[in-house]
Amino acid sequence: MNNFIFENSTKVYFGKGCVKEFLAGNLSIYGNNVMLAYGGESIKKNGVYDEIKEILTAGGKNITEFSGIMSNPTYKKVLEGAKLAKENHVDVILAVGGGSVMDCCKAVSLAAAYDGDIWSDYWEKNGIVYFEPIPLGVIVTVAGTGSECNGGAVITNEEKKIKTGRDYPKCNPKFALMDPEYTFSVPARQTASGGFDILSHIMETYFSKPDEDNVSDNISQALMKSVISNLPKALENPQDYTARSNLMWAATMAENRIIKLGKACDFQAHQIEHQLGAFTNCNHGCGLAVIHPAYYRYIYRDGLEKFVRFAENVWGISAEGKTDEEIASDGIQALEDFIKQIGLPTKLRELGITDKGQLADIARSCNIAPGGYGKMSEKAILEILNKCY
Ligand code: NZQ
Ligand code: ZN
Repeated sequence: MNNFIFENSTKVYFGKGCVKEFLAGNLSIYGNNVMLAYGGESIKKNGVYDEIKEILTAGGKNITEFSGIMSNPTYKKVLEGAKLAKENHVDVILAVGGGSVMDCCKAVSLAAAYDGDIWSDYWEKNGIVYFEPIPLGVIVTVAGTGSECNGGAVITNEEKKIKTGRDYPKCNPKFALMDPEYTFSVPARQTASGGFDILSHIMETYFSKPDEDNVSDNISQALMKSVISNLPKALENPQDYTARSNLMWAATMAENRIIKLGKACDFQAHQIEHQLGAFTNCNHGCGLAVIHPAYYRYIYRDGLEKFVRFAENVWGISAEGKTDEEIASDGIQALEDFIKQIGLPTKLRELGITDKGQLADIARSCNIAPGGYGKMSEKAILEILNKCY
């Protein structure tokens, strides 16, 4: 295992009724000015908005609403939120939603406490956060990104056509309230894409060195099996509490830094998806579903032993009478079959991407992740994207 330091400052409250029980108490340690941030209409339709509003009103909070946070949140939206937070002297931000709302609010919490240009100083490059961002609490409404338990925020700069994630521990939410019942209303497509995002985060960590026996890989195998078993159950019965709660916690476990400890981590598929998103605004989990099988077919020979382990231990592929290459290929095929089973796309055209000419620009603007098995280059990424088309 590689050396590591571990800290996670987010306090998690998980389970039925946790918002009613713990929201007011958690907010009471901050000032009275609360920014209530959310996306579109979903929290108004499923009653979550009313439930939260009632708690805030009963606590005598001055509420500043920051709504309309879109999927793949933009830098422009971050600046809008920061302006609102400054004007209303916001003491604490309450983000209610999925990765997009949480990420946007992390960036707002930094931008509202900083006088310079947050994009050039903290997203274009890694910066040092020497000041205190506005405290942030989150209420998770969709399982997927795991943003609730890290400092990561993925922001799209539309003008520059760059989608970039940075992880600043000071942006870790102070508290995360996670009621699996809040995710009952998530539509099938988003349930599947969020679920695949969880699997992707685990695979991106698993397929990297070290490969000798280590705790992180063993936890990862168990988590992958849990997602593979629970995601179809949640799709079949959206109100299956056990399936929804397993997905919700697996999402957090995948991104709360624990499985990354001692691992190099790859995240090349994410780098490609982020630029795909910057150019096409595609759904994050759907983009990953298209990229992963093609990417793994490109690199698996460089990490053959691990891909064999993945096939046998995660997908239950039989090794009998097969070469290592055949076992590994069967594992990647099982992954692709699972993607089809949960109704996600496996080709860029299914994502609505019809301009093949964009692929070269996407490949050119992609970061190369240093931690994976294969030797990546702009040419290799373009080849993978062409295979995805
Ligand atoms: O906007 P509303 O109306 O709320 O609808 C949302 C949105 O359309 C809907 N939704 C959320 N909760 C719901 C619900 N619909 C019904 N019932 C509910 N309870 O779901 C849709 C998608 O929401 P979004 O937040 O965009 O999805 P997700 O959680 O997948 O987040 C995606 C963003 O997170 C970034 C992605 O790149 C993308 O920008 N990521 C963030 C990461 C991090 N911070 O650690 C890591 C990830 O790899 C990822 O890159
Ligand atoms: Zn992701």
